[in-house]
Amino acid sequence: MTDDKVKRIRAMKGRERIAALTVYDFAMATMVDGAGLPLLLVGDSLGMVVLGYPDTTQVTLADMEHHLRAAARARPQGLLAADLPFGTCATPATAVESARRLMAAGAEAVKAEGGRSILPQIRAILSEGIPVLGHLGMLPQNAVLEGGYHVKGKTEAERQGLIADALAVAEAGAFAIVLELVAAPVAAEITGRISIPTIGIGSGPGCDGEILVTTDLLGTSPGFIPKHVKKSWRFAEQMRAAVVEWKESVVHPNGR
Ligand code: KIV
Repeated sequence: MTDDKVKRIRAMKGRERIAALTVYDFAMATMVDGAGLPLLLVGDSLGMVVLGYPDTTQVTLADMEHHLRAAARARPQGLLAADLPFGTCATPATAVESARRLMAAGAEAVKAEGGRSILPQIRAILSEGIPVLGHLGMLPQNAVLEGGYHVKGKTEAERQGLIADALAVAEAGAFAIVLELVAAPVAAEITGRISIPTIGIGSGPGCDGEILVTTDLLGTSPGFIPKHVKKSWRFAEQMRAAVVEWKESVVHPNGR
């Protein structure tokens, strides 16, 4: 079953564009999966959009397991992938141990941030039969260190590094690669040079598909909505209006 879902995503390259979204619990996974997406991700964006952390670095494996179990209860038709959170992929042995825990909590694939620097970890996870989704470009787990969320691939050195990383991750056996905030021409070039799908986020139209943080799409993320979200539905405003209207109906039952 998982194999079929992974094969389906790989086979979409060059045929059908891939739309993927994040999910963090049962209700959200049920709703998002109802749209028929091939890939759902329990992202460590969980930290910012659900748990109230300033960035992803405080998200623990236990946080991921908790939310993943809830999302997995929706038994999605799409492949349910989960992020290996910050610090859980330091060596091949810890990467395998962390990936096994995510799989035991209901993941069907894991996502690891990084390229050649974590190739032994990616290979070790794959050798356990666990599908890996790569993640290159702006790596949110490095954003604190780098002082923010910056577009990657603007210099020739960065371009070459990203291409080498993408080729290495694809060659290792990942089934797809997320390209986050990669300069659009470089994302398109990578897409043309590797045999597995690229799934962009803020990386222009030249990828094989796109992924978004669902609460950015819905407009319920606390804080800012990133520029790459073309249309945010601003549901937070409607939710607030519903709460205020209901509160008024309770506090002033006769309209007084
Ligand atoms: O954590 C996350 O939600 C992600 C997506 C932005 C790709 O990694």
